[in-house]
Amino acid sequence: MKPDYSKLVRPQVASMKPYTPGTTVSQARKKYGLETFVKLSSNENPLGTAPKAAAALREIGDLQIYVDDDHHELRRRLAEPYGLGVEHVMVGHGSNDVVRTLFSAFLAAGDEVVMADPTFSLFPKDAILFGAVPVRVPLREGVHDLDAMLAAITPKTKIVVVVDPNNPTSTRVDRDAFDRFARALPANAILVLDQAYREYMPAGSVAGTDYVASRPATVVLRTHSKLYGLASLRFGYGLGDPELIAYAQRVRLPFNVSRPAAVAALAALDDEEFVRRSLETNALGKAYLYPALAKLGLHAYPSAANFVAVAVPGTASEAYEAMLQRGIVTRSGDALGMPGRLRITIGTPEQNALVVEALGSLVASAA
Ligand SMILES: Cc1ncc(COP(=O)(O)O)c(C=O)c1O
Repeated sequence: MKPDYSKLVRPQVASMKPYTPGTTVSQARKKYGLETFVKLSSNENPLGTAPKAAAALREIGDLQIYVDDDHHELRRRLAEPYGLGVEHVMVGHGSNDVVRTLFSAFLAAGDEVVMADPTFSLFPKDAILFGAVPVRVPLREGVHDLDAMLAAITPKTKIVVVVDPNNPTSTRVDRDAFDRFARALPANAILVLDQAYREYMPAGSVAGTDYVASRPATVVLRTHSKLYGLASLRFGYGLGDPELIAYAQRVRLPFNVSRPAAVAALAALDDEEFVRRSLETNALGKAYLYPALAKLGLHAYPSAANFVAVAVPGTASEAYEAMLQRGIVTRSGDALGMPGRLRITIGTPEQNALVVEALGSLVASAA
């Protein structure tokens, strides 16, 4: 007889829902029988993978050998642009893994984690996993309400999360407001600044890495999943005070970054041409999409990332289905705490034109 697992599982896990990623192309194919789909649901790079990373991957052999888990050269290269050292960097199986590791090292039952609502769903989930309490502070017009977040801090606050640009809204926080916020935080509250989309941000945005040296209890998270087109390989990292990082390193799973991931991540850093093209494609996409959306009467929050959060007629789920029928996979805001909006990755010019055309039909059929 099988045991009653619901009595064995930790209570935090018993009430948890699994992470639901965006619809995959094969799921969409199965559901609608269409041959080609445009996948704009997970903010991946529409130009593919950095060619230098792909070339380095083709050279990899000796997979029977464990990777050198120190990743010294990679960490050195990641720290260098910010005047930081190897000891400031920890690597992960995607930046999600760095979050899990940090939370497991620092959170205890009853601790509070202050965060925006909605924000990247991993944060409340991982806080709960470690017995902590997510304290969710509503966004104001799609943007982190930093004053309200400060007001939500109590002696139990262990971690404060700012996602900049925020997912799912694509918005950024004001640099001066963030500076005041960071200075006003209690010294023993760990500030986790998730900047998965940092490279796409316009000039004058928060340069999170400045705070690593100036405010000790700060960790900035970055990833190769977006700009470098390595989402599938899994590589992300955290930059923080060496003492804090050393504690997190104690609980990092050994070999959490595979050699292919490490080799590709290092090679990608040299692919300036791909970075330039990717940023240019995104900027062009934004320049095309905003006036086109305005013409359709659809509001989108100002994006500082590689995706837009567009208000749609009817419910987000209906709009999501209608887009899917036209071969475009987006993300319904209903699943992301952003009702009435779709989250759509900025794609190639052709993909963006398809998005506008499909949204145009949505508007026309709602009229
Ligand atoms: C805010 C934010 N952080 C982190 C990630 C994921 O990063 P990674 O693929 O490095 O785990 C995403 C991906 O969608 C994201 O939107």
